[in-house]
Amino acid sequence: MLARRFGDGGASPEGTEDNELMRRVLTRKTVRRYSEKLPSEELLDLLTACALSASAKSDFQQASILRLRDPQKRAAVGALFPSMPWIGNAPVFFVFLGDARRLNRIGELRGKPVDNSTLEGFFNASIDAALAMQTLILCAESSGLGVCPISVIRNEIDKVAEILALPDLVFPVAGLCLGYPSAEGFVSLRLPRAVTIHIDRYDDRALSASIDDYDRRRDAIHAIPKDQQRSNAEFGEAAFYGWSEDKARQAAKAEGAAFPPYLRSHGFTFD
Ligand SMILES: Cc1cc2nc3c(=O)[nH]c(=O)nc-3n(C[C@H](O)[C@H](O)[C@H](O)COP(=O)(O)O)c2cc1C
Repeated sequence: MLARRFGDGGASPEGTEDNELMRRVLTRKTVRRYSEKLPSEELLDLLTACALSASAKSDFQQASILRLRDPQKRAAVGALFPSMPWIGNAPVFFVFLGDARRLNRIGELRGKPVDNSTLEGFFNASIDAALAMQTLILCAESSGLGVCPISVIRNEIDKVAEILALPDLVFPVAGLCLGYPSAEGFVSLRLPRAVTIHIDRYDDRALSASIDDYDRRRDAIHAIPKDQQRSNAEFGEAAFYGWSEDKARQAAKAEGAAFPPYLRSHGFTFD
């Protein structure tokens, strides 16, 4: 499993071979195609309970979960992202919200001046929501479900926030499509751990060689077809189009321009 995830193996400490959670995490994969079968309401309720059992900064508990159930609202959100039909089609759609509002309200209830509109407030609420989402993801996957996080909703934040009736200081970290998988998907090869794990000091001197090697190994498993090269008009067709070329092209076209002004006009000062 380690080899499939990273391209290199390595010893597993004794007793871990049967660790079901680790096996699931190492082999997990995003799923974007779902069968018609609906997860039961009881299972969804349990999954949200698991999500909200995640760690939370200072016990402030700044994650909120919104389940988008109304078919008209689902369709309205889905219609904003035609290139990602799974957003409108998935049997279940959650939105994980960073909720900096609740702490301000608790301050009001207790007559204490709280200003949670700061960068600290935004950051803490974001992390709580992300941890809750990842906890739900792992629990859902362990129940035979497949999921796909959806941060693209932030690209249309004004419209999405209106549909979801989000108040000031409450913002989506990501949506989450969920359902029983109808397609296999694949375990995506991660960067070599020599790039992402540092001992005692940060050291990225070997980045260039490691990325070239990773690109080649990844290409041998899942080559990106020529017709999926991004922005060829601007960057030209690449003879070798690996992960790093794809990600550099993707990141060069920065997303999310609408998000900072939305946050600033909806309560955050980031002071
Ligand atoms: C915060 C976050 C946001 C994401 N947003 C989207 C999205 O908007 N649309 C989508 O199709 N996939 C989205 N994904 C899925 C990633 O593309 C996927 O996790 C990544 O390619 C790695 O694949 P894996 O999860 O199968 O290992 C998102 C994942 C995360 C963690």
